[in-house]
Amino acid sequence: MKILVIGGGGREHALVWKLGQGAGVTKLWCAPGNGGLTQEAECVAVDAGDVTGLIALAEKVSPDLTVVGPELPLVNGLVDAFAERKWAVVGPDKGAATLEGSKIFAKEFLQRHSIPTAELYGTHDSAGGAYGALCAVDWPVVIKADGLCAGKGVFVAPDPDAATDFIERVMEKNELGAGGSRVMLEEALVGEELSFILLTDGERYAPLVPTRDHKRAFDDNQGPNTGGMGAYSSDELLPADLRRTIEKTIVEPTMKGLAADGIRYQGFLYVGLMLTKSGPKVLEFNCRLGDPETQAILARVDFDLAEVLADAAGGHLKPEKMKWKAGASACVVMASGGYPGKFETGKEIHGLADAARVADVKVLHAGTKRTGETIVTNGGRVLGVTATGNTLSGALQRAYEAAGKIQFEGMHFRKDIGKTHQQSSAAGD
Ligand SMILES: Nc1ncnc2c1ncn2[C@@H]1O[C@H](COP(=O)(O)OP(=O)(O)O)[C@@H](O)[C@H]1O
Ligand SMILES: [Mg+2]
Repeated sequence: MKILVIGGGGREHALVWKLGQGAGVTKLWCAPGNGGLTQEAECVAVDAGDVTGLIALAEKVSPDLTVVGPELPLVNGLVDAFAERKWAVVGPDKGAATLEGSKIFAKEFLQRHSIPTAELYGTHDSAGGAYGALCAVDWPVVIKADGLCAGKGVFVAPDPDAATDFIERVMEKNELGAGGSRVMLEEALVGEELSFILLTDGERYAPLVPTRDHKRAFDDNQGPNTGGMGAYSSDELLPADLRRTIEKTIVEPTMKGLAADGIRYQGFLYVGLMLTKSGPKVLEFNCRLGDPETQAILARVDFDLAEVLADAAGGHLKPEKMKWKAGASACVVMASGGYPGKFETGKEIHGLADAARVADVKVLHAGTKRTGETIVTNGGRVLGVTATGNTLSGALQRAYEAAGKIQFEGMHFRKDIGKTHQQSSAAGD
């Protein structure tokens, strides 16, 4: 089987790593890929959002299967174009990807099918309307830009001044581009967040192991939001009764709702949840795997990922094939100095070989570039040092041991990945 992976971050390196272990896999391409995965896949310089370029690439190399990492090609209709040509691809089509591409569409879907979610106060396509609505909401209020905003489109506003400022930036100054031309206001939920990700072929589905990510830049959830500074997976994150509740109140109605609306959803569906006092509620849908959750999830794969994804693309997923390594995993993201703000690139990365020698560790590359024999930084999130273990503390210990061997100018990483969970389990709640 020859496979094309679309995207170029840590998530895609994780996919390439695990797909490459498939018994029948003879060739892997990654578009555009990155410097760290060139030994595992042939990188081709086509942008992930460039549907025309990707069609031309697939025409040229004829992969047996294409796996899409990021949301942009999905929302841009890549899967529709591939399906038209009868090419096997993992990912939802453009219509189904609207669950991520429009938060208002997703909210209407959730309401239509009585799936628990934050109460909607209203949707607005003018700043004036949104300002006016602020007099009738509870505080804090959550303001969400409707379209894709690369993680910058949601603000939990503590008071009217902060809310007005955000609406002005999004709707009047267009700081987020077209994604901010409509907004919705919704109730602020309180609780712990959990990502519940499943793979579906349109009919059957199978949940992946549960994960949690860490969005803030610094320890103790300080500093600005990032794309994700780390993630961990442990079965303890999702006790059996909570899992049943999520499947019964959220996943099953979602699958039924999609079918009732005539939406055939195939691929990964990421359900962002808030575990509130009155049960789990949906914060958002993503139409793909998360990054860096994928790194932690795939580290625990104990099945032939290529075979399972080919089954899903072909409409005959066999959930029973998906066996997971018991225990836990962790991914520690090493970022450039200044990230998520301004940062420099081109810094030589030392210690990669030493880090790779730590048992049960895989150093996954994101923002890296190969220049001759050296690997240099080429993005904000540079590496995802990923480890497995029988316990979460074992996985974390290995990941941090390996991270400690890596060095580049200005680097920073969080020292408390998975810590909240360890503390809360130790405290017995
Ligand atoms: N209704 C809500 N109540 C409280 N926090 C929220 C709510 N909606 C979103 N958030 C917070 O904002 C973050 C980002 O929102 P999300 O809907 O996941 O959008 P995106 O990932 O596209 O930025 C969430 O992870 C959560 O921390
Ligand atoms: Mg989110």
